[in-house]
Amino acid sequence: MAIIKSVLVVGATGRFGTYITHALAAQRSSFDRIAVFNDTSRPASPEKESTLNSFRSEGVEVVDGHGYHSEQPFRGFDCIIMPLGNHALNQQPTIIDAAIAAGVRHFYPSEFGADLLVGQNWTQRYYRDKVLTRQHLEKRAQDTPDLGWTYLTIGRLTEWAILDHFGVDNKNHRAQIYGTKEGRQSLLSTPDTVAYLVETLKDPLPEVGANVGSTKGRRRTYRMHGSSPTWAEIFETLKEITGKEYEVTYLDVESAKEEEQQAIADGDVDAELAASHKLIQGRAGTCLPEPWDNGRFPAIKPESMEVVLRRAFASKKYRRFYGLA
Ligand SMILES: NC(=O)c1ccc[n+]([C@@H]2O[C@H](COP(=O)([O-])OP(=O)(O)OC[C@H]3O[C@@H](n4cnc5c(N)ncnc54)[C@H](OP(=O)(O)O)[C@@H]3O)[C@@H](O)[C@H]2O)c1
Repeated sequence: MAIIKSVLVVGATGRFGTYITHALAAQRSSFDRIAVFNDTSRPASPEKESTLNSFRSEGVEVVDGHGYHSEQPFRGFDCIIMPLGNHALNQQPTIIDAAIAAGVRHFYPSEFGADLLVGQNWTQRYYRDKVLTRQHLEKRAQDTPDLGWTYLTIGRLTEWAILDHFGVDNKNHRAQIYGTKEGRQSLLSTPDTVAYLVETLKDPLPEVGANVGSTKGRRRTYRMHGSSPTWAEIFETLKEITGKEYEVTYLDVESAKEEEQQAIADGDVDAELAASHKLIQGRAGTCLPEPWDNGRFPAIKPESMEVVLRRAFASKKYRRFYGLA
């Protein structure tokens, strides 16, 4: 069995990457080396520097690199985790190629969401660069037989599911949802997701060539499930937490197709991604079907949606995220 001992996070200063890095730092005794990639070609800011300093203070190494083409910063790592945001997802093939040249053999691409094989997800614009990344890994596996990767799928991060961007206006207790009140999505809290992520990193990889006969070989998919509430249940929970009944309008999912076409005509990529997400969500593409892998890590007991959202509504950071502060 092979064990991942050195990990580099690319995209560590992003919203989700920050959580991953702190969770890794909290378990640094399980690893020989934990580092984050600091892309010096990206704009610097006091917030970013403060995030990097918080990593340093937890014993995380900061590795500088200018863009993703050079193999040098990737040397010496067993595994690269890439929690890159929507506008950087297309950089993953470049990172993979440079890192393979540097000797890296395991990748966690920027997934951390829906199962791309569900429904029409594979052909949705929102997932285009995640699909291209999967295809790139498959292609590189042809010339790099010991290449491995892990897809961590969850559905949605609970705290993110009620953002304005996804149609929920927490300030005015209103929402515009594409789909119906019976529509479901799978939700897992951010702390639970990163806890599972760290456990999957510690899960030994079989030797190359071992006949594992499943997706749990060096090319693994983990499906971690929290809960799969309907929109009606989500708004009921929001009412419990805020004391306010949300005024919810449910819209025809397929009308988001017109929105998507308009966004393409306008050249507005963010609007195009938002419309595509409405189609995915409205068609239950963020529902995580069984089988789930939670049983492999019984020490983690996913928190309920209510516990997670109560904590978020009490937190300054999430209140800002929700437009409440
Ligand atoms: N399932 C869910 O509900 C859910 C929710 C949230 C996130 N996620 C997933 O988690 C992953 C990370 O998402 P995120 O929201 O945390 O990402 P994010 O905050 O937007 O960005 C993450 C990182 O991408 C880097 N980046 C590099 N080049 C960039 C460019 N050209 N434009 C913008 N950013 C660039 C950013 O660097 P700088 O620090 O230099 O800006 C940042 O470190 C994605 O796969 C996303 O789908 C899933």
